[in-house]
Amino acid sequence: MKKVDVIIIGAGAAGMMCAIEAGRRRRSVLVLDHAKKAGEKIRISGGGRCNFTNMNIAPDRFLSQNQRFALSALKRYTQWDFIDRVARAHIPYHEKTLGQLFCDNSAQDIIDMLLNDMDAVGVYLELETSVVSVEKDDNFIVETSQGRVESQSLVVACGGKSIPKMGASGLGYKIAEQFGLNIVETRPALVPLTFAQQDLEPIKAMAGTSVFASVTCNNTTFDEGFLFTHRGLSGPSILQISSYWREGDALSVNLLPAYDVVEKLRDARATAGRVAPHTALAKHLPRTLAAYVAQQAGLTGNLADQSDERLAHLGRAVHQWQIKPVGSEGYRTAEVTLGGVDTDDLDAKTMQARDVDGLYFVGEVVDVTGWLGGYNFQWAWSSGWAAGQVV
Ligand code: FDA
Repeated sequence: MKKVDVIIIGAGAAGMMCAIEAGRRRRSVLVLDHAKKAGEKIRISGGGRCNFTNMNIAPDRFLSQNQRFALSALKRYTQWDFIDRVARAHIPYHEKTLGQLFCDNSAQDIIDMLLNDMDAVGVYLELETSVVSVEKDDNFIVETSQGRVESQSLVVACGGKSIPKMGASGLGYKIAEQFGLNIVETRPALVPLTFAQQDLEPIKAMAGTSVFASVTCNNTTFDEGFLFTHRGLSGPSILQISSYWREGDALSVNLLPAYDVVEKLRDARATAGRVAPHTALAKHLPRTLAAYVAQQAGLTGNLADQSDERLAHLGRAVHQWQIKPVGSEGYRTAEVTLGGVDTDDLDAKTMQARDVDGLYFVGEVVDVTGWLGGYNFQWAWSSGWAAGQVV
């Protein structure tokens, strides 16, 4: 039977980072992955340009039952450490918006950097290898489709449930349960939200329409792009709020956060009131959306015919639109999985299971989920790095 110091299940962002750090410490490291290539999610991330971190990393941008858990790893291996590494690899990058850093060329630059680093420290990478079972005696015995391997440490870095087509398997949760760790309920996050068929009918015409909006749910607000789709809503503001939304919750959407539309319409009523309200509104919102909102507000006649009260009613339809999604597009399109291995069962400094010597969990499989915008990769880098110092 093959024997190594460390087996890492998952050649994603967290697993590769952990492998490099352990390899630097001259540990013999084997990374197993059932995919054909390493880092497949990195490859498709950020529209192919990988939003690899965010300059504004802060603990309140991560969801977890214990929000402080991520702090130790994020402080010890920061966004600036990863940015420095990218710069040293001469990978050109830029800030797109809100501190989000993207590769100028391709996400493949990040994958190549990690693979080169793994190579330089002698990490073994075994692709197209599935894990059949994991057992622990003194050491871990991992039975794979290529045979049995033994190791002192086992790092579970096989991600969450999002995008099964890309290799997500949920194996990490099974291993955690097998060794007695608790799992915080998982659900798709950073995911488009969907409407019931009858609610979809009136907004169908707006599919493809986007605005800059302010979306609020459960005391959390995001001011970002907002997109109507054939199934419901998407765009960054909706992906962000999806992590806070629960079935039965309504969203409050300000479709025009930049200024008070009622003031503008009052002025227009005085100077150019012989137009339909939706025509006046179309100066401030895309035409189809203006027509929809005016219809929802039930206004008839010209703008000149509208009382202050009717205009205020229209204003509420624009600034406080209440909508109730019924669900989400699920793991099929979710960027991440909320919940996961309970942080109470892990050591925040090392990512080791408190009650199982040598067993570590890093990256998305842990109950730490970042906002959209590079936060999830930073968690993968930081948690992988933290475990890599001790495995
Ligand atoms: P990850 O999922 O990356 O890696 C897990 C690895 O384990 C995979 O290689 C998989 O094949 C392997 N595996 C799974 N089950 C296995 C099994 N049973 N046996 C063997 N191997 C197994 N984040 C961000 O910060 N910026 C961004 O731009 C984006 N963009 C983005 C786009 C899209 C479309 C998605 C789906 C996601 C993002 N994300 C993102 C989120 C980001 O991709 C995610 O948070 C990290 O990839 C998580 O890294 P991990 O290494 O934990 O898991």
